[in-house]
Amino acid sequence: MRDFAGKTAVVTGGASGIGYALAERFAAARMNVVLADIQQDALNRAVEKLESSQTHVIGVLADTMQKASVQALAEQSIAAFGKIHILCNNAGVASTRNARGTAIWEVPDEDWRWVLGVNLHGVVHGLQAFVPHMLAHGEEGHIVNTASLAGLLSGGGTYGVSKHGVVSLTETLCNDLKQRGAKIGASVLCPGMVSTNIMDAERNRPDDLKYEGGSLPEAVRTAMAAALAGGKAPAEIAEIVFRSIEENNLYILPHPAWDDFLKRRFEAVLARKGPAFFDPAEMMQRRAKGEVF
Ligand SMILES: NC(=O)c1ccc[n+]([C@@H]2O[C@H](COP(=O)([O-])OP(=O)(O)OC[C@H]3O[C@@H](n4cnc5c(N)ncnc54)[C@H](O)[C@@H]3O)[C@@H](O)[C@H]2O)c1
Repeated sequence: MRDFAGKTAVVTGGASGIGYALAERFAAARMNVVLADIQQDALNRAVEKLESSQTHVIGVLADTMQKASVQALAEQSIAAFGKIHILCNNAGVASTRNARGTAIWEVPDEDWRWVLGVNLHGVVHGLQAFVPHMLAHGEEGHIVNTASLAGLLSGGGTYGVSKHGVVSLTETLCNDLKQRGAKIGASVLCPGMVSTNIMDAERNRPDDLKYEGGSLPEAVRTAMAAALAGGKAPAEIAEIVFRSIEENNLYILPHPAWDDFLKRRFEAVLARKGPAFFDPAEMMQRRAKGEVF
């Protein structure tokens, strides 16, 4: 996709972090923007901020876990702007309730339902609600699904499972769009660390999926927060995504520092050995030398 001015982008999880940065980048390209988010106060602030830059923007309260809510988002977006050209299925969460050391079979159902519900089913709901409309109007378009490097590396618990699903889903989407001769590209965004509010994702956990007990040890929380804070800025990710839409790249990998770990993962797959988890100590040493993970 090369022409952006006057076209419309919808971004889920658009009130914060990567989603908001994407919205700002689309606004800078003079696109209309629909910000969708589950958190009303942050959504209001994000809409106000974009409005101050003369962007045609609406905010829609939407829960991507719920198919009906995403259908309603599509209806409101089309009612406001007519045609939708870019869809970013970006809303995502990570459970920070489980202390490290929780085996995968011990993870509470509430975490599975929430993390898969938002990160994977949320993307499915976005495709179901928007792709038929995007095909029907026939103009150029693009879909960006936010996964993570956790969707390409080994491990990652519930989060890794959900993000591997998003990678696979997007590969299938890309193929299916090509087979239909659609003028719609597809990309899967796989960032490493980005300085956003994801460490506080629990703020938006639905009440019926809360449970007693389990929390990250403070030292682990602090280390994770520091790793995210030392990551790339959301605006930098948004710029790379924008260029990838122009170039119609399927895989968006904004953090080349992780390439070595990716290679080792796929070497282990081909050697029929493993799993090859990345080594946090190596990452820390390289980060101390200035590489951004
Ligand atoms: N920050 C990172 O280091 C990083 C790395 C790789 C991938 N990601 C992915 O990037 C995406 C954006 O996350 P972020 O880092 O900007 O975090 P963030 O917490 O800053 O933003 C996420 C947004 O999603 C919204 N959201 C949560 N649940 C929702 C739901 N059910 N429906 C609609 N909106 C919902 C939140 O309110 C928030 O505004 C996620 O998919 C995340 O998994 C982040």
